[in-house]
Amino acid sequence: MAKQLIETEDGSYTCRSERFDECYHSTRDGALQESLKKHIEPAFSLIDTSKKELTILDICFGLGYNTLTTLYYARQHDLRCKLRIVSPEFDEALVHSLVDFPYPEALQPFKRVVDAIAAHGYYDDEKVRVDVVFGDARDFLKTTDLKFDIAYQDAFSPKKNPLLWTKEYFADLVKHLKKDAVVTTYSSATPVRMGMVENGLYVYEPPKTGVRSGTIASPSSKLPLDSIDMQLKKERNPNAASLRDKDFK
Ligand SMILES: C[S@@+](CC[C@H](N)C(=O)[O-])C[C@H]1O[C@@H](n2cnc3c(N)ncnc32)[C@H](O)[C@@H]1O
Repeated sequence: MAKQLIETEDGSYTCRSERFDECYHSTRDGALQESLKKHIEPAFSLIDTSKKELTILDICFGLGYNTLTTLYYARQHDLRCKLRIVSPEFDEALVHSLVDFPYPEALQPFKRVVDAIAAHGYYDDEKVRVDVVFGDARDFLKTTDLKFDIAYQDAFSPKKNPLLWTKEYFADLVKHLKKDAVVTTYSSATPVRMGMVENGLYVYEPPKTGVRSGTIASPSSKLPLDSIDMQLKKERNPNAASLRDKDFK
């Protein structure tokens, strides 16, 4: 593939995006570890896996680590529920190029999933359905009827990819969350948390997993985690504000 490969701390590879001038993963945490510890393990430790089907929003597909690591986790934990993963991504050429991506050993059993997605944009078997929706994630959220149990909020950073972190973006996201849904993200930025809270989400400190912390958010006020008092943060920092579409469009 044409993109520059970068080996990360745990030995797994990521790439650097020229357009966003940023890596797809934290090189310090490691691509696989970041996916597992910031998104997949926290989400699955908090949701009810006895449901018949779990619907997952992966924002955005990128190199596919979050989707593939979800399948890895499901296999490791012998999950019985059907997984329906939907992932918007506007870089179609990147997804097609993933047939050649050097995924770590743990993700090799899912090579057939990558090949199908790279060729057709979807994969389907009796346990999992994955759809990559080519186009803008904002447009997807405005048009889909789906409701999600889990959302992996894994855009590039708020500085480089602000339109996937604004108050208006979270307003659209919230409409597609089930009442006990879990949103995972690597960002612990106050403007991001404020955008979530201003749309009715509760924000929590993630479980300690050995990688740098982020945020867990949910429409539910009852997650068994330490909740974050954004009112207090606002009192301490009156100038703090959520990101707004009008400042970036
Ligand atoms: C940090 S990477 C995602 C990494 C991915 N979750 C993984 O596990 O490999 C961010 C991705 O968001 C995509 N992206 C950024 N803004 C987007 C938008 N508005 N709509 C769709 N995709 C977008 C980029 O092309 C990039 O692939």
